[in-house]
Order: sequence, then structure tokens, then C-alpha cells
Amino acid sequence: MAEAMKGLKRTHRCGELSTVNVGENVTVMGWVQKQRNKGGLIFVDLRDRSGILQIVFEEADCGAESFAKAEKVRSEFVIAVVGKVEKRAGAVNENLATGDIEVRATQMRILSEAETPPFPIEADSKTKEDLRLKYRYLDLRRPDLQRNIILKSKISAAIRSFLTNEGFLEIETPMLTKSTPEGARDYLVPSRVHPGNFYALPQSPQIFKQLLMCSGYDRYFQLARCFRDEDLRADRQPEFTQVDMELSFVDVEDVIEINERLIQYVCKEAIGLDVQLPIPRMKWIDAMNRYGSDKPDTRFGMELHDVSGVVKDCGFGVFTSALENGGSVRGINAEGQAEMPRKKIDALVEFAKGYGAKGLAYLSVMPDGSYKSSFAKFMTEEQLDALVKAMEGKPGDLLLFAADKNSVVWNVLGALRLEVGKQMGMIDNDKFNFLWVTEFPLFEWSEEEERFVAMHHPFTMPMDEDIPLLDTDPGKVRAKAYDIVLNGTELGGGSVRIYQNHIQEKMFEKLGFTKEEAYERFGFLMNAFKYGVPPHAGLAYGLDRLVMLLVKADSIREVIAFPKVKDASCLMSEAPNVVDQKQLDELFIQIDEEAIKGQNEE
Ligand code: AMO
Ligand code: AMP
Repeated sequence: MAEAMKGLKRTHRCGELSTVNVGENVTVMGWVQKQRNKGGLIFVDLRDRSGILQIVFEEADCGAESFAKAEKVRSEFVIAVVGKVEKRAGAVNENLATGDIEVRATQMRILSEAETPPFPIEADSKTKEDLRLKYRYLDLRRPDLQRNIILKSKISAAIRSFLTNEGFLEIETPMLTKSTPEGARDYLVPSRVHPGNFYALPQSPQIFKQLLMCSGYDRYFQLARCFRDEDLRADRQPEFTQVDMELSFVDVEDVIEINERLIQYVCKEAIGLDVQLPIPRMKWIDAMNRYGSDKPDTRFGMELHDVSGVVKDCGFGVFTSALENGGSVRGINAEGQAEMPRKKIDALVEFAKGYGAKGLAYLSVMPDGSYKSSFAKFMTEEQLDALVKAMEGKPGDLLLFAADKNSVVWNVLGALRLEVGKQMGMIDNDKFNFLWVTEFPLFEWSEEEERFVAMHHPFTMPMDEDIPLLDTDPGKVRAKAYDIVLNGTELGGGSVRIYQNHIQEKMFEKLGFTKEEAYERFGFLMNAFKYGVPPHAGLAYGLDRLVMLLVKADSIREVIAFPKVKDASCLMSEAPNVVDQKQLDELFIQIDEEAIKGQNEE
């Protein structure tokens, strides 16, 4: 390579040149996007991460040797070109940032040749994602991915700069550590030195950042890799990056204030977006009642209506029995959809069932004011009128109802609202609606485990006025926890932390740990609290999610250089993989082939 670069020094990236540089001698290097041979003239589109530049070869300028090389180059060859910037002789290319100039080559060198790539290197790829991911190093050459990855770097730099200016210290915390409870499964790493023992990769730096507060570092941040073995979705990866922070001597308001300014700064720096402050806030209970979601997409309305009071004495057993069992009946109004074909309504019913509904009742207010409904026969005309009124229904509207436990009704209608909103084209893709959701419940009842689990994590402080409820009615206790939501996606979350051991012990007790178990797992944190602990609070954003939303990508994989697919494997490197018997022996690990076979056959 030393030979290849001898006497050559790049002066510009391709996309950096413009009419300002006309007349200058430049040296550019990159990949051949396309070569067109017009006989005495050869055009090469040269690409690097900054863009595409047209090069013109004519034997009279570049000499026979370079001209012969230019004749030979094909897509993805890597070349160096020395030449002079000129105004385009031919037509200006409006689609290209450098469309009104070209470089007339005086010399060219082929730095490396290339085989034909398995798919074209171009924006808006039609290539199947599996193939793109197998050849990710080629996929990453495509301009849309390059834009995302470059923007992510810019956002990281903006975050670092803002937080450093605010007095935050960037401190690393360990990757090989003990399990932290964030609610997912841990990735485990076996220890060779301590046979039979395992490290856990961090689900977040939660405990360590709290310890840093105990140690007096008062404002910490880190762009921290986190690992969670959970079911993957479009906005989840098994390893991802958090913008993680913790502050001492603060309460909820302080954390929100500084983070609003951070969001404003980063959005402006990254995409020139002006975020109006203060960011709106909504209590958790209001978010659930109005949107059926703790991460409401507030870019459109179609809010939920609670009609329990209106239908409590009606003759429709589905509604009344839900109410008798302590649940509710709620609905959404799909305005103007009264004449939705039966097939489409049936599809919505199936959709609702996918979210746990037993069914979905509907009522169309026909343009002539009459009703068409799956349950009209169980209700009087007056009852139907009252129901339509409660739903703010008017001729032409389609009303959809779910009756069940509150949690099911919220879940079903929250998802249905998004689906119908999407189908009706109600979502304005140009909007960036940030929202704080506050006053989350401290606990959530787990049907599976038949116990309370922490809604955020066990280190979250209850709201002062709710502390007495910890013993009497834990389900009612609200937490000093807050989430930041963007366009219906949870971007980040945090809380004020418990810093008193008697509350922390109580918390673990409610979560079903004995005191001994709690100290065994988290003793190092609780012991630290014995030696002088500042009140503290913090928050963590999903960096990948932030970038995904700012670039309006459909999937988190579009903003991660080397992502994993749904089954947590990497299609390029083929991780995870089997390892040598020798490595297993060193770790005293034995693979149970029979059990694996059984599992695979299931
Ligand atoms: P939490 O678990 O809410 O809080 O995580 C914070 C943010 O991290 C992002 N995130 C993910 N991004 C991609 N893939 C995943 N699998 C994934 N899981 C989470 C989300 C989420 O909002 N220690 C606390 C924070 C605190 O209390 O300070 C925590 O980890 O955007
Ligand atoms: P059924 O009595 O089960 O035939 O249901 C009558 C109508 O009520 C159908 O349109 C069902 O889809 C609907 N339905 C059933 N269960 C529920 C429920 N839990 N919430 C709302 N609608 C329901």
C-alpha cells in the first residue's frame, strides 16, 4: 500500500468540491460508482463518504497510460485521481451536489480492483435486507446508511459537548459485571479463573452510576453499551447504546430542565430542528386514559373515551360483565369511517385480538343518522344515542369499543388507535412531538410471577406523599419516574433514586426478596449508602432510537453499523457460533447436545 500511495496526498473529499474550487489542482480518492466510455472521452463518477464527483478522462490531458487505466475501471474499483476542477462542459446535473463541476484528470492510479458486488451500491436499495446484512461492509457504502452513521457520530459529539459544558464527567463503568435488574435476561460470560462463575454484561450502568454519585462525582455521563437478552423488535437490539447520566443534589425538575436543553441543542445541531421548550408533560394515568399507552403518539387525536358510565345498565352482556369484573368499556372514534367494508372491520377485530382483546364491538353512525352495529340489538335507542354522544360520534363515524380489564382495554385501544390512525393517514411525518410522561406507578403486577415487579427499576423513589401506601396499597404508589417520548416511541427513561436504606429494603421486600437476598445481590450499593450518600437522580436515552427517529428510519438496524437480526445473530460474522472444545474445557463447560436436540425439535 505504501507504494500505491507514493507521491499521492488527498486534497479534498469528492463532495467538498464546488465552483469555488474551479481552476484548482486537486487529488481525490474513492470508489468508482460508474464508468461511461464515450470513445475519446471517459466519464467516471467517483464516490466517497461525502458524495459523488464526475471525473473526465481525455488522453490529451492524462496521457495514454492513465487513459488505458480509466478504460479498464469498473464499479467499486478504488482509484486516485489528480486533476483540475472545471465548470461542467456538458449539462449540469441537478441531482448531484457537485453537479455543476467536474475534474479533468491529469493522472490516475488504480489503488485496488473490485469484483462485481452482489447488489448495487445506491440509495433507496431494493435489495433484500438479509443480503444487505450479509455483506454489511458493502451496504455501509450506500449513501443513506452513510448519512445515518455520520449523523450518529455528529449527535454523539453534540451530546458530549453539551454535557461536558454543563459540568458532567464522562466515566466508564465495567462490561464484565454483576447482573443489574432492568427487566430483561442477562448475557452471561463464563469466568475461566473462577470455574462455574459468570459475569453478566450490563443491561445498563445503573448501579455503578449511583455508586459514582456516592463517590462524589456529582454529574456523570457515558455513551454506554448495554446488553439485553430480550425479544427483538424494530426498535430493539440485543446490544445498544445509552446516553446515560446521573446527577447529585437534584430532584425531578432539575433533571427535566437540563435534559430539555440537551434535547433542544442536539436536535438543532443534528438536523436543524427547533424544539419548543418546555416540552409538554403528561401524567402516566392521563396518558393511559387518553391514548391507551404510556408512550403516546400525540401527532394525532382519536383519543380514547371511557363510556363505562354510559353503558353500565345496558343489556349487552359483554359490556356489563366487564364492568362487573372491575374493568371498563372504552372506545375510539374513527371519524368518517362509518362505511368501512365489513372485511376491513373484521381485520381490525383480528388485530385487536392480537393485543389480547376477546372481541371488538363496533357501531357505525351512517350518513343518514341510523346505526349499524354488532350490538345494537342489546340496547335501547336512547342508550345507543347516549353512547354515540359520549363518543362525540356524528354521521359518518365508526366507533370501536373494547370491554375488559383496564390494562387490556388500554393495550388494545392504544394499538388500535395507532393502526387506524396509520390507515387513515392521520400521522404527520414532519412532526417531532416530544412528551414527558411522569408519575408512573412504582410497581406493576406480574400475572406470570404472581408478584409485584418494578415498573422502572427497584432503585426508583416513590413519590413522597405515596410512601405510606407502600405497606397498605403498593399497587397505588406512584414513582418519581419520568420517560421522554418522541412520536410514540420511548426515547429515554429515568427516575429519582432511593438513597435511604430503609426505603430500599422495603422496596426489595415488596418485590419479594428477603433482606439476605437483597444484600447478597445489591449489598455493595446498600453498603455504600451507609457512608454518606447524596440525593441523586438520572436518566438514560436510547441513542440508536434517537438517531432512528431523527432520520425517520423504519428500523433501528438502519442506524447501527453492524446490527443483529431478530434471532440476535449477525448475518455477516455469523455470531453466535460454536467454540473449540479446548475453550469449553478451560471453562469446565459441557454442552448438553441431547437437550439442544430436544429444544430444536420443539
Ligand atoms: P431503560 O431500561 O428505560 O432505563 O432504558 C433507557 C432507554 O434505553 C433504550 N433501550 C433500548 N434501545 C435499543 N434496544 C434495546 N433493547 C433497548 N432497551 C432500552 C430505550 C430506553 O428508553 N438505567 C435506566 C435509566 C435510568 O433510570 O437512569 C434504564 O436503563 O430508549
Ligand atoms: P359475542 O357475544 O361474543 O358474539 O360478541 C358480540 C360482539 O361483541 C362481537 O362484535 C364481538 O366482537 C364483540 N365483543 C366480544 N367481546 C368483546 C370485548 N371484550 N370487548 C368489546 N367487544 C367485544
